[in-house]
Amino acid sequence: MTVREPLGIAVIGTGRMGADHVRRIDSVISGARVAAVADIDAERAKAVAAGIDGCTAHTDPAAAMAAADVDAVLIASPGPAHEAALLAAFERDLPVLCEKPLTPDAASALRVLEAEQALGHRRVQVGFMRRYDTEYVRLKALLSTGQLGRPLMLHNRHRNVASPPFFTSSMLISDSVAHEVDATRWLLGHEISAVTVLRPTPSGGAPEGLSDPQFVVLETDGGAISDVEIFVNCGFGYQVQAEAVCERGTARIGDGHALITHMAGRWGGTITQDWTERFAQAYDDELQAWVDSTRRGEVTGPSTWDGYAAAAVCEAGIRALEEGGRVEVDLVEKPQLYR
Ligand SMILES: NC(=O)c1ccc[n+]([C@@H]2O[C@H](COP(=O)([O-])OP(=O)(O)OC[C@H]3O[C@@H](n4cnc5c(N)ncnc54)[C@H](O)[C@@H]3O)[C@@H](O)[C@H]2O)c1
Repeated sequence: MTVREPLGIAVIGTGRMGADHVRRIDSVISGARVAAVADIDAERAKAVAAGIDGCTAHTDPAAAMAAADVDAVLIASPGPAHEAALLAAFERDLPVLCEKPLTPDAASALRVLEAEQALGHRRVQVGFMRRYDTEYVRLKALLSTGQLGRPLMLHNRHRNVASPPFFTSSMLISDSVAHEVDATRWLLGHEISAVTVLRPTPSGGAPEGLSDPQFVVLETDGGAISDVEIFVNCGFGYQVQAEAVCERGTARIGDGHALITHMAGRWGGTITQDWTERFAQAYDDELQAWVDSTRRGEVTGPSTWDGYAAAAVCEAGIRALEEGGRVEVDLVEKPQLYR
């Protein structure tokens, strides 16, 4: 296993997340450099590569992976492009950090799961960065001590200022609630067994035809319930909150009370406006952890199994949204590689 210093990374997709990860590799974290970038938009790839010494620009992801000094791959193209990029990385047996979702549906995620097993070793970390957020890490650590007793319920709120123009009602689940799906599985150590989606009359602030907000109920195989308010056109800020209700107490994160001001007869603070701000520390730590483990020849963090399970839960959630009622999640048996 290579331990090249610095680790050469090919970044696939140089849009909002990809360009931010390039900046992070180049100027925030240590032990890695951007060796190549790929984007189907050649101008975008060139513009991102231009600022980086020795970085080559490509339109074909496989060509970027084959470029000189590439040891690992960061996939930040849109979800539907992930499967092809993952399989191309597997062809070269390269370690991968793949932005969420692993793939957009359970069948394609299962193909990736099978392809990784055919390699015989884990290669993929999935970009569920909440597992690296200081507040989530503290909540997980507290729950693990058992001090509060068994977790009974999780209440989650996930609010965005406004949704992008292409956002559909099912994307509230596949793009947004996907994070709570992973956070629930990780915090509780349970699989999600069934999903129900309730829809109030949409907000007047939501685009015509968008079912926003939604209330998603996740049941787990450990007997817990996790509910998620997803509201992607709340207008006022980006908020991610979670409260665990346990047998002997509760624990809450995401109140954003880092700075409180008292002025002119009022008190208050500010609300983050997007995820790049709210989860900046989590993205930095996620990427550093991936680089460090890759250089040690290890794969840590959310696995292909976690990506597959999230895809299967989201698929059930979309069915629950479209057809109504409670939809059970159908997972294959967990392969040995991920136990
Ligand atoms: N972890 C998080 O919090 C988080 C937040 C936002 C987005 N994401 C994920 O990051 C990924 C990218 O999202 P984004 O917001 O940056 O999207 P974006 O649209 O801003 O950027 C995507 C880029 O990929 C390029 N592209 C499209 N198809 C490609 C292909 N086949 N090969 C190479 N490049 C291709 C596009 O030209 C574009 O430049 C998605 O998977 C998304 O779900 C994760």
